[in-house]
Amino acid sequence: MIEEADRMKRLPRYLFTIIDDLKRDAISKGLDILDLGMGNPDVPTPDHIVEELCSRAKEPENHRYSRTIDKSEHELKRTIANWYQKKFGVKLDSGTEVVPLIGSKEGIAHVSLAFLNNDDIALVPNPAYPVHFNGVLIAGGMLHNLPVSAENGFMPDLDNIPGDILKKSKMIFLSYPNNPTTAVATKEFYEKAVSFAKKNDIMLISDLAYSDIAFDGYRAPSVLEIPGAKDVAIEFHSLSKSYNMAGWRIGFAVGNAKLLSSLAKTKGYMDFGIFKPIQYAAIKALSGSQDCVNEQVKIYESRRDVMVKALSDIGWEVPKPKATFYLWARIPEKYSSLTSMEFVSLLIKEEGVVLSPGTGFGEGGEGFVRFALVEKEERLLEAAKRIKRVLDMKI
Ligand SMILES: Cc1ncc(COP(=O)(O)O)c(C=O)c1O
Repeated sequence: MIEEADRMKRLPRYLFTIIDDLKRDAISKGLDILDLGMGNPDVPTPDHIVEELCSRAKEPENHRYSRTIDKSEHELKRTIANWYQKKFGVKLDSGTEVVPLIGSKEGIAHVSLAFLNNDDIALVPNPAYPVHFNGVLIAGGMLHNLPVSAENGFMPDLDNIPGDILKKSKMIFLSYPNNPTTAVATKEFYEKAVSFAKKNDIMLISDLAYSDIAFDGYRAPSVLEIPGAKDVAIEFHSLSKSYNMAGWRIGFAVGNAKLLSSLAKTKGYMDFGIFKPIQYAAIKALSGSQDCVNEQVKIYESRRDVMVKALSDIGWEVPKPKATFYLWARIPEKYSSLTSMEFVSLLIKEEGVVLSPGTGFGEGGEGFVRFALVEKEERLLEAAKRIKRVLDMKI
């Protein structure tokens, strides 16, 4: 029998594959699925972006392999640098400090491959977005969990990492606004993180996929706003959430030029860049009116308010996040003896309501579930109604 590589055996089965199996069973039993599991935006990509893709797709020149010296990539990098300057007041050299990606997940996975030797340690908060730790495992690196919990506002404690771990550490992953916990970082936290990274000669990887999805006037800062951050940091961005372009696969990394050149080198052996019409569409998205982003944020803000209230009305108190389109909820008391996976399975089997189990984001997520607010408000209310039936069940 031909076995898969040992490094793949280090990985758990991908959470969403397990959930998909449960969903399939529920569908086969005739249940209507209300899917608040995956963070997969439901609203279509804005028209002006789709139109740009369509017209660019008609130009034969854009059907060829995409090369880094192509006009589209130059223009995209310049657009990203301008967007950064406008949004965060951070100046970037578009030639050396910007790398477009086939979605930020691709870049995040490749950064571990680019930098980790077998006994190098990556510091990763737990729970976290799964690619932060799975990328490390695929690369053959070592993981050191930084536990986060409600008690510390889901922020890692950078002051109490053992010295022998720090000596072998090469990178730290941070991501705020956070998926799944919805925690947000202050600039003071980033200042501390940058000086921590410098002091210990560790690269700081910031994943800012949710920079735009912020509510009640809150603005999510970039770590690169901290003076000197570029000496040690790179930051990942995604167009998936801000512009509802999840299926298009486009994101980018910015920051330290030397670190980015290793990422680009690694990628260069793996892929041929991004389909050029998608690059042009991304240019349109980033350089055009941002009204579509603001409208999208309003939709998520309203969904957040509706769902937090609906859950409270059925006796499930869930904190109101400042950012992201998630709710991070402690499993209700009645079912607190179940694991998060058992609780999620119960909701799917009984009522077709799909949430993500906290442990899908690391064992530190046990006791929690994550709601992704990617259904319309009436469907969210329906979800709350169905959840109530499960909460009212005799057990
Ligand atoms: C924190 C975080 N980073 C990165 C990604 C991946 O985004 P992309 O679609 O750009 O690969 C996600 C997607 O859910 C995410 O939640």
